[in-house]
Amino acid sequence: MFEEIRLICPVCGAALNREEKSYVCVNRHSFDIARQGYVNLLPVQNKHSLTPGDTKAMLMSRRAFLERGFYMPICRSVCERLKKYSPGKIVLDAGCGEGYYTEKIHNEGFSVIGADIAKEAARMACSRSRDILWTVATAAHLPVADESIDAAAAVFSLFVNGEYARVLKSGGIVTEVTAGSKHLTELKELIYSQVFEQNKSPSPCGEEFELLECANESFVFETDHEGLIELLGMTPHVHRIKKENEHALDNVENITLTADYIIRVLRKR
Ligand SMILES: C[S@@+](CC[C@H](N)C(=O)[O-])C[C@H]1O[C@@H](n2cnc3c(N)ncnc32)[C@H](O)[C@@H]1O
Repeated sequence: MFEEIRLICPVCGAALNREEKSYVCVNRHSFDIARQGYVNLLPVQNKHSLTPGDTKAMLMSRRAFLERGFYMPICRSVCERLKKYSPGKIVLDAGCGEGYYTEKIHNEGFSVIGADIAKEAARMACSRSRDILWTVATAAHLPVADESIDAAAAVFSLFVNGEYARVLKSGGIVTEVTAGSKHLTELKELIYSQVFEQNKSPSPCGEEFELLECANESFVFETDHEGLIELLGMTPHVHRIKKENEHALDNVENITLTADYIIRVLRKR
């Protein structure tokens, strides 16, 4: 369970305490727990649009695709790193989406808080487990106390050096997954007229962190048409396709795709 996770008020930074169906700070800023179970800790001043983050359609595609199990090797890799390197049991999953990886991390025995800037993500994630603390929050201002977290996961989301360093205990770790240069290249070849291989190098760890491990992992998987459409729907590519390529996937019945990603483990100095 998550009682040991120390939430802070996103308005004034004071500790938040649970009072029946709300979290309240000493300055009486109050945040209701939604019927589904998440708490919205994203004040308007930290929102850069009316509905920030992934859309409901993207989140539904993501859930459908991930539930097929194709990305289980990525999930195993993340959980293995957390078990190997985390100095304790409290894990924050930043940019957790609809909660696929968050739930698996929780199942490994960690106390987990999931944070996503999209309210719909937190809402959907609640159906995965009531034993995870689901929040609407930005990774730029995480709603947890200084030095209160043992490990953070950032899976295809974002790594904000300073803010992660603030919330991690000394010796705490970040497990980060970012797309590699060949990630989903077969999909890109179908929807774009030209695909340039990008030299993907993860962002610098900054002076707050030391690099413990960096591995480029990859595997191939085969999906049918439906899985391919779900995959497209959960990525930003769905918004980038040009009109002339709109039907590029229509006749693809089966396809073999490459998942290529970089997994890094950083430790707070
Ligand atoms: C590519 S998805 C990855 C979701 C999840 N980690 C997964 O792999 O299934 C990126 C997620 O980050 C969220 N996001 C984007 N900007 C964010 C921010 N500033 N703070 C927290 N979450 C953010 C999006 O809403 C989206 O759910």
